Amino acid sequence: MLDVTALQVRYGAIEAVCGLDLRVGKSEIVALLGANGAGKSSTLAAISGLASWAGDILFEDESLKGRSPEAITRMGIGLVPEGRRIFAGLTVAENLLLGGAVHASPVELRRRAAQMQERFPVLAERRNQKAGLMSGGEQQMLAIARALMAQPKLLLMDEPSLGLAPQVVETVFDLIGSLRDEGITILLVEQNVPMSLDIADHALVLAQGRASVHGTTAEVAGSDAVQSAYLGH
Ligand SMILES: Nc1ncnc2c1ncn2[C@@H]1O[C@H](COP(=O)(O)OP(=O)(O)O)[C@@H](O)[C@H]1O
Ligand SMILES: [Mg+2]
Repeated sequence: MLDVTALQVRYGAIEAVCGLDLRVGKSEIVALLGANGAGKSSTLAAISGLASWAGDILFEDESLKGRSPEAITRMGIGLVPEGRRIFAGLTVAENLLLGGAVHASPVELRRRAAQMQERFPVLAERRNQKAGLMSGGEQQMLAIARALMAQPKLLLMDEPSLGLAPQVVETVFDLIGSLRDEGITILLVEQNVPMSLDIADHALVLAQGRASVHGTTAEVAGSDAVQSAYLGH
């Protein structure tokens, strides 16, 4: 579904991603792991059209080169950004409507927002409250629901469990599993390596903009680098 070849992302003299190859098959979860500054968010920014890049990115066999973020959203790629990036001063309902605003009619948007509030009861309870007043976990649910408003086929998730209490982390991972079961393909950037390796089909560890380890989750979990760096063995 997603084919990334020789991806490069630079910020001036900084080479954030240097020659990354990455494939995500339909209905898979692929975990993109790696230390802070490894280039994970830059990879997602390139795929979403938010950073300029070199190399090739194909989505369903179509090149993403030169496409705007809006066009990429319309093709079926959604982003749940690092740090949630909800609009704190807007209400929960307004945040949801913005998520689908790029390509749905007002009637269709209201229908989808109602669906999201059914799926996430906390968003229904708080629909008229400012989104910034919600807890971190609730804001994460809103960020995910907002991305789902555009009905993505591929969802890019950037550290969705970061900073959340263990019980909320469980809820987020359960949701990720449900989304995959519903047919959404997921590229998951995470700090929680054990839970990511548990849920994903394939995994890739980025180090300094390059893939240091990649393979099935069993292969990656068994690699020396991951055993010593992340799993404490
Ligand atoms: N907007 C930016 N301008 C300059 N440098 C950046 C920018 N965003 C990221 N970087 C740098 O690019 C590298 C990769 O960052 P990032 O993709 O955010 O890594 P990760 O998400 O894995 O923590 C880091 O060295 C970071 O400092
Ligand atoms: Mg990041």
